Amino acid sequence: MYMIAVSVILAFWVALAESQAASVSAPQLPIAVKSPYLNSWISFSGDGTSPAGAWAGFWNKAHITAWAGLVRVDGQAYQWIGQGFRGSNTTASYITPTRSIFSYQVGPVRFNTTFLSPIEPSDLTRQSLPFVYLYIDVTSADGKPHSVQFYTDVTGEWISADIGANIEWTTSETSSTLYHRLTLSTPSSMQESGDIAEDGTLYYAIQKRSDMTWQTDDCGVMRGAFETTTSLLNATKDTNFRPIEKNWPGLAMAVDLGSITQTSEPIVWALGLIRDPVVRYIKGNNIETRIPYFRAKYSNDTGVIDAVLANSKDALSRAIALDNQIMSAGESISTKYADLLAVSLRQTMGSLEITLGRTTDGGQANMSDVRVFMKDVGSGRRVNPVETIYAALPALLYLNSSLVRPLLEPLLEYQSSSIYRNSYAAADLGGSFPDALGNNTDTPLLGVENCGSMLIMTFAHAQKSGDGSLITRYYHLLKQWADFLVTNSLHPNGYTTADGLNNPDMSNLAIKGIAGIYAMGKIDEALGKSSTYLTKAQEYITSWEGLAFSSDHITSSYGQSSSWALTYNLYGAKLIGMEISDKVSSSQSDFYVKQAASAPTFGLQYDSNVKNVKSHWSMFTAGTTTNNAARDLFISMVHDRAFFAKAAGPFPTTYDMTSGADNGGAASPAQGAMFSLLALGLPNQRIVVPASSTKKSNAAAIAGGVVGGVCLILITALCFFLWRKRQKQRSRWDYGGSSTVAHVRPAHQTMMPVLEDTGPPVTTPLLHPSINPFSLPELNPTAAQPLYSNTKGASNSGRMVLSPQGQYILNAPSSEFSSTTDNNSLPHAGSAYELRNEVEELRREMAQMRSQRLVDEPPPLYQDDFPASSSVNLARPPMTSTSASASSSLPPPEKSSRVVFN
Ligand SMILES: *[C@@H]1O[C@H](CO)[C@@H](O)[C@H](O)[C@H]1NC(C)=O
Ligand SMILES: *[C@@H]1O[C@H](CO)[C@@H](O)[C@H](O)[C@H]1NC(C)=O
Ligand SMILES: *[C@@H]1O[C@H](CO)[C@@H](O)[C@H](O)[C@H]1NC(C)=O
Ligand SMILES: *[C@@H]1O[C@H](CO)[C@@H](O)[C@H](O)[C@H]1NC(C)=O
Ligand SMILES: *[C@@H]1O[C@H](CO)[C@@H](O)[C@H](O)[C@H]1NC(C)=O
Ligand SMILES: *[C@@H]1O[C@H](CO)[C@@H](O)[C@H](O)[C@H]1NC(C)=O
Ligand SMILES: *[C@@H]1O[C@H](CO)[C@@H](O)[C@H](O)[C@H]1NC(C)=O
Repeated sequence: MYMIAVSVILAFWVALAESQAASVSAPQLPIAVKSPYLNSWISFSGDGTSPAGAWAGFWNKAHITAWAGLVRVDGQAYQWIGQGFRGSNTTASYITPTRSIFSYQVGPVRFNTTFLSPIEPSDLTRQSLPFVYLYIDVTSADGKPHSVQFYTDVTGEWISADIGANIEWTTSETSSTLYHRLTLSTPSSMQESGDIAEDGTLYYAIQKRSDMTWQTDDCGVMRGAFETTTSLLNATKDTNFRPIEKNWPGLAMAVDLGSITQTSEPIVWALGLIRDPVVRYIKGNNIETRIPYFRAKYSNDTGVIDAVLANSKDALSRAIALDNQIMSAGESISTKYADLLAVSLRQTMGSLEITLGRTTDGGQANMSDVRVFMKDVGSGRRVNPVETIYAALPALLYLNSSLVRPLLEPLLEYQSSSIYRNSYAAADLGGSFPDALGNNTDTPLLGVENCGSMLIMTFAHAQKSGDGSLITRYYHLLKQWADFLVTNSLHPNGYTTADGLNNPDMSNLAIKGIAGIYAMGKIDEALGKSSTYLTKAQEYITSWEGLAFSSDHITSSYGQSSSWALTYNLYGAKLIGMEISDKVSSSQSDFYVKQAASAPTFGLQYDSNVKNVKSHWSMFTAGTTTNNAARDLFISMVHDRAFFAKAAGPFPTTYDMTSGADNGGAASPAQGAMFSLLALGLPNQRIVVPASSTKKSNAAAIAGGVVGGVCLILITALCFFLWRKRQKQRSRWDYGGSSTVAHVRPAHQTMMPVLEDTGPPVTTPLLHPSINPFSLPELNPTAAQPLYSNTKGASNSGRMVLSPQGQYILNAPSSEFSSTTDNNSLPHAGSAYELRNEVEELRREMAQMRSQRLVDEPPPLYQDDFPASSSVNLARPPMTSTSASASSSLPPPEKSSRVVFN
């Protein structure tokens, strides 16, 4: 198995070396991006491609996270990551969605270092593991054997922003692994400082091998010794626990390969940063501490480390398969587009904490209580920031639409509780990640923006996953937001965008609100409720076109014909199937092409009133275009900045249109917007609604005596007939056969230029992040939260009860859904289940007819108490299988006939 993986890699690399002529260079590449706090990047010194000569740094560019690597070749030591020694020459660098790979030649020896941050969309346990891998392969360049040793260490900088903080360390082994463990002497639970968690435990581990040695000691001493010796001492030399910066205690390991011509298997290390608990969350009137999802499977960290290393080969194979799938899907649009997918995906996935609640009794992991929390990495500490999730939605839907439910649910859950009192949607769950304690402040300015985003996202999730549970469970909340939009969206005066614009009558904001109303109409349609939201949305679209469109383009503000904007909210509309007139959308695409001709160096700003480009909204706009010329312009403009070698720092969302200067959103999850084009190709699913919460109101009607009973039998028979018919139809929608795509490309990796000579290492001073003038103000983490401030500091005590706050606004039928087994595992679609769905559907159809004809008698309900975990697996194509089918080859969406890319 592993040999296959390796030869596959080799084949890819060879193919690549032959086929990739275009070279690009990124300013900074992710090397360990797996959580908001395990989020380190390598910047390049001097000429821009070698990690030798630079220290890895935290995403915010304000803090070094030292990861040192040395190699001895025939007795001579060189550095391959970090500073201090003569640097190795990098011959190439590659980036894929999950990996950053550097190729070196040092004297007569070549080696590759592969930094893998796994993305595991079909397995929440694996996705939740805060671990990354480093693989090293070696070959002799001249075919002769050479003596080769590798050394690597990490320091305490990974676990605190304060290098004066005291740390402690131990080294342990299991039957298969050796690992170092490092903690703060006094960790501060749920605290972060300078974006860095102050409650993490760092693990640096290796699979045990006879040629390895280890040591914990002063880094300077160990690195220096490696110049003259081939191994470490297998000892904790240094038990003097002290501050991070005091003679820099380091966790080191070395491997002596002896005299070799080639490694048969890579050397593998795993680096992890475990926090437990991970998040505090307000649920109803309680504040609960939540544990990482993987805890359900691994109760202790030793088990985690053993599993991570035992999994290292399969993790690499899966990563290659996923990379292939994504890159070939991207290549079907363009190579530049594929590059953007490669450079962005870890940012999105690395912003998430996947959590479980504890059971009320024993404090064990409760597998039916999955919640995902996103940190607004790059912008601040906001929790589940609505506009950022909205931007990231394409990547999440593309990877696995079922990821979206546990990410939206905390927002919906909080806002349907009695604690939240506003009639419009909140912007987030508060501004102090990892505390998700909500924010009740009455600030309606972003009401249109957030109501629109929440409705679009909630419906898009249902439509792309087929899971109707959110739209059912939070129906009243969603409806309340839709009503808010009916009142406020056509003329959103007094409202602000999440970008910070507050002009009157903004076209782009209005269309988001209208799309929100449309989403509500579609939700009602899916639930079989009659309503006027679709009619209202259509009426508003017609008015909007009249107000927003001026001769050849959509204005930024109604009536101001010289203003313009990237009308990127048409993307959300298009994603859920809302149409505007062809004339308006094609004129607007032509207008973009015209504007781009005189665009500044880094592309079109997102609005004629500003000077910043926003990469995520640019790619949403690419998704709204009606011709490839316009689409490719946006791809190209964003690509210019993403791979602008002279810039410092991770790929930002916001940058100056002329200079490219980073104005915010470095490493932001919002870059998931790069997947905008792929997400438009996702098929719609039939939305399956969980056991209805309208049972009570209908119960009387079913007790209709003999007549009712006879009807029930007849209807059941009819349903069975319909069900059989549906089964036959459905088989046509199975995607099993659709993998007709023999379009399996070799893995694409974006190549960076060959480096001539690294020369002596250059110190790269870390810069402080610049401030985005348009992002929401950075929230003050110490600001008192009046409602919950009494609970501060008691973070470890599990559930805490606040003073009762009264009833839920929405009488959430929580008991109806509590039997949900696993929020993400789709239950087997048994025939009884199907039958129930058919009865439900029929009931809804009849309800609709009734409401039209004003008939009094409601149809019967199917009474079976079916498990409410309610989504049926409608044959989504496997995303991570080894087949690398491109998304663009999926069958067309069920309902929309919109052509995605030509
Ligand atoms: C790096 O490349 C330069 C120029 O090709 C060469 O002189 C130097 O020896 C190389 N360094 C190493 C460590 O191989
Ligand atoms: C999506 O994720 C769930 C678990 O979260 C998994 O059961 C399902 O198989 C995944 N679907 C795909 C297509 O990977
Ligand atoms: C490293 O990658 C290159 C492609 O750049 C490949 O040709 C080479 O065989 C790889 N070397 C090792 C040791 O795996
Ligand atoms: C050092 O320790 C490792 C892990 O226990 C072991 O595999 C290795 O053989 C030891 N090496 C020496 C030289 O003692
Ligand atoms: C840790 O977990 C593993 C399984 O993951 C188990 O076999 C082992 O006994 C546990 N160790 C302790 C100390 O609880
Ligand atoms: C697990 O979580 C679900 C959903 O939040 C809840 O209804 C259920 O009571 C929990 N189970 C236990 C045993 O606490
Ligand atoms: C709540 O939101 C408001 C408006 O965005 C903001 O001004 C305030 O600082 C937030 N408070 C907290 C505690 O996050």
